[in-house]
Amino acid sequence: MIRDEIRPKPDERHAAEADPGFGVYVHWPFCLSKCPYCDFNSHVRGAPIDEERYLAAFKAEIAHRASLAPGRVVGSVFFGGGTPSLMRPQTVQGVIDAIAAKWRLEPDAEITLEANPTSVEAGRFRGYRAAGVNRLSIGVQALNDADLKALGRKHTVEEALAAVRLAASLFPRFTFDLIYGRPGQSEADWRAELARALDLVGDHVSLYQLTIEPDTIFERLRDAGKLKLPDEDLSLAMFAATRELTEARGLPAYEVSNHARPGGECRHNLVYWRYGEYAGVGPGAHGRIVTPKGRFAQETERHPEMWLTQVETEGHGLVENSALTREEQGDEFLLMGLRLSEGVDPRRYQKLSGRELDRDQVKSLVEDGFIERVANGRIRVTPMGAPLLDTVVADVAA
Ligand SMILES: C[S@@+](CC[C@H](N)C(=O)[O-])C[C@H]1O[C@@H](n2cnc3c(N)ncnc32)[C@H](O)[C@@H]1O
Ligand code: SF4
Repeated sequence: MIRDEIRPKPDERHAAEADPGFGVYVHWPFCLSKCPYCDFNSHVRGAPIDEERYLAAFKAEIAHRASLAPGRVVGSVFFGGGTPSLMRPQTVQGVIDAIAAKWRLEPDAEITLEANPTSVEAGRFRGYRAAGVNRLSIGVQALNDADLKALGRKHTVEEALAAVRLAASLFPRFTFDLIYGRPGQSEADWRAELARALDLVGDHVSLYQLTIEPDTIFERLRDAGKLKLPDEDLSLAMFAATRELTEARGLPAYEVSNHARPGGECRHNLVYWRYGEYAGVGPGAHGRIVTPKGRFAQETERHPEMWLTQVETEGHGLVENSALTREEQGDEFLLMGLRLSEGVDPRRYQKLSGRELDRDQVKSLVEDGFIERVANGRIRVTPMGAPLLDTVVADVAA
């Protein structure tokens, strides 16, 4: 919700009819080791992290972003990484307090923290709950020790299960991530693993198909012919199996890779996918802020120590803060929203971008099976179209 005095007038309004709320993303950029498939902004440091210094910098960033987006009511906070479960609970508490001091934090705001399931980190779960975190997102990734090792994970299946059980007992809501389509995995393997995983779920689970990202060890292995990845048919079969099993257990997909019981959707991620407004603080965090001058794209310095120095000298870590053109807003809206099972409303596209979707392209992409029509004239991407989303958007927005 946006306070009236700063709410753009209807004719200036670049956001659309539905108001997905305002969220705050907090990036913790450190991990104990780098997983070979991961291209997130995560860094390994040999020495301990000066958390007090980082907390002071987070506070400065929050104050700065609140000056650019005053009066917002925060509906969600998301601690992502990297590995936020390496943060001390006092640091998490300090960040939440700073957010509540600079904006109004809804009493029932969703506050999520991403956790890795090693026993050391599980030891801090109670502290996070006491600090105000009410939703834990655990990176389980696989329920098979050999595959966890191949993914470079530092935890075992036993530790992952213990972390999930502990989260279930401490937090009102929890979710966990699995990666499928792993080297050598068959559809039967995945079905068995997913069925086992679904016995453990709360109201939400994220199931990601392994993607090979640029400049990762997995990319080098694949290019050297040392990674046996599923072909397109197997990928689609695994995707279909994922839909079938999750639906049967009452957790249908609400986004390409995210499944929830009705009402259990991640409120924070819905802000992104419904093209809402959010502030991002910490190294490499992104934000989208709506002002009377339009929608601004914000991005911070990615490198942790350079971000810290910049915040300490300039009072913020932003390296980008620029108004998006209407065309860019339309493209972003599609990239985000086509992933949702509820799809996107072409009228909102028109309001944002000032032009209509290309009807002929929509028709031919529907005929070719890349997008599909859902209720009320809305459209969404199909399983076949999801990996080609950039191209789909370029076609329909042309
Ligand atoms: C920021 S990461 C992880 C948070 C936490 N550090 C962890 O590893 O559990 C968020 C999620 O993205 C998924 N992910 C990261 N890289 C991926 C890739 N190349 N393919 C598929 N999923 C990936 C993983 O499931 C991971 O849990
Ligand atoms: S997957 Fe998680 S733990 Fe592994 S490097 Fe990426 S952010 Fe760190």
